[in-house]
Amino acid sequence: MTIDLEPFKKLIKQRCGLILEGLGEEKLATVLAQRLTVTKFGNSAEYYFHLQGSSDEFQELVNLLTINETYFFREVEQLHLLTERLVPRLLMQREDNQPLRILSAGCSSGEEPFSLVMALREKYGDDMSSLFSFAGGDIDTQALAKARSGCYNEFSFRAVGPEIKARYFDQDGWVYRLKDEIRNRVEFQEMNLFAEEFPVALHGCDIIFFRNVSIYFDTPTRRIIQQNLASLLKKSGYLVIGTAETIANDFGVLSLIEEDGLFYFSKGQFSAPVPAAAPVFDFSRYVVSKVAAPQQCEIPELPFVRSSPSVTSSLLTSEVVAPVVASFNPCLNVDEVQQYCREKRYEEAMAMIVIQLEQNPGDTSLLLLKAHIQFNRKEFELAEASARQALETDPWSIDAFVLLGLAAKWRDLVKEAIRWFKQAVYARHECWLARYYLADLYRAGGESDKARREYRGVLQLLSQSTVPDHGIKVLPLGMVHSELRFLCEHQLGKLGNQRRIARRK
Ligand SMILES: C[S@@+](CC[C@H](N)C(=O)[O-])C[C@H]1O[C@@H](n2cnc3c(N)ncnc32)[C@H](O)[C@@H]1O
Repeated sequence: MTIDLEPFKKLIKQRCGLILEGLGEEKLATVLAQRLTVTKFGNSAEYYFHLQGSSDEFQELVNLLTINETYFFREVEQLHLLTERLVPRLLMQREDNQPLRILSAGCSSGEEPFSLVMALREKYGDDMSSLFSFAGGDIDTQALAKARSGCYNEFSFRAVGPEIKARYFDQDGWVYRLKDEIRNRVEFQEMNLFAEEFPVALHGCDIIFFRNVSIYFDTPTRRIIQQNLASLLKKSGYLVIGTAETIANDFGVLSLIEEDGLFYFSKGQFSAPVPAAAPVFDFSRYVVSKVAAPQQCEIPELPFVRSSPSVTSSLLTSEVVAPVVASFNPCLNVDEVQQYCREKRYEEAMAMIVIQLEQNPGDTSLLLLKAHIQFNRKEFELAEASARQALETDPWSIDAFVLLGLAAKWRDLVKEAIRWFKQAVYARHECWLARYYLADLYRAGGESDKARREYRGVLQLLSQSTVPDHGIKVLPLGMVHSELRFLCEHQLGKLGNQRRIARRK
């Protein structure tokens, strides 16, 4: 039976802002077929009529459509921003003794709000209970039920090492149960970010984390949601959006601030940063791989720089792979894998790659996508090995050069990183992405003239009426030209200021 998806897409967008295109549309078709069978409606028109009047059925449908990908200590540099910058500042400015209220909006199954609790527990010890109150909101009631249960499996721990697991969780077979001291700290609320009204409990927030959610909305919807979130913030509150999303969410509703190379939004007048109160929470002890120190975060979260270290490939056992593959179109192809990578559904993408590589072990595109996922999981050495393998079949692969450059950069192998990015530029002068990274590396190394030259080069390439092809063929790039131009102009402005200050001296 063919279902006319348009009325459903419209209704869902109207009520919760979600855009269902591409794979989202395919998912909608599958989910609708499933609901039609379960509810026993004769046709989709009858089901649509029922759906309009039944909030329970609408909820069932939404629960099946949302993407809940999340894990503990995701984008850990932003947790560092929280514990070392935002919280100390707000505690200092606080006029009453009320706890700071922290909300995770779009909290999925709870890994994000619980990470905030654990991070602040590490920093403030037992005082955490009186200093902070935490809430998590999501439209997906099933995800919220999981969050309330506080039970997780290995997939949620892809970014954390054994210490955090041992300290805050009790293991019961495959299940890790969050200790009550952390679990009871978060109040979970059903919340539609696109709604006109919000539960009272969600008002008066000091800090809102809203990460990896805005990508599911179009620009007008993102603007409305930001206005909604701004209305939930206190006058001096902060909004932290996923690192790769922030600039695309700069609507002038809140002030965009850059601190330590990270962007976030502030509702009130921004006051000068306060020094971090000791002791500093050293995240690097707890996460699986290196956490960038603030200065090192200056390279913005371009397509690859997503802190999503994940399960190692060895965890991709047949129990994981088989159900994933069975639930997908049997005609697997690279485009599909790329799309999963774009949606950051790395487990599924990796499962597809593993299976396809068995048939085509030397396939450059699959090897590059594998390297891309490994890079995003911060498995830099594995990523490097896969990218080098790709170079064996395509010695001029710009994708491979850029990936190798990034993997070296994240391991602080600056010279090696520069060599790979230069190699990419040598192979393709118009590879503006490699030139951008080169510029950032030069800037970080104090080579301002070289940095300026590269930033200007990128700006010049990106300002052409038709932006030249950067030569990257396979890796899913999420970077919007205007964002990259903004970053280059921003850095050039800073380099210009430094030159003026140096001259005055
Ligand atoms: C990919 S998860 C992000 C989880 C977490 N913030 C993180 O960064 O790991 C996106 C979440 O946004 C939620 N979501 C989508 N649309 C929403 C809406 N209109 N209102 C509230 N939550 C929504 C989904 O249910 C899903 O759990």
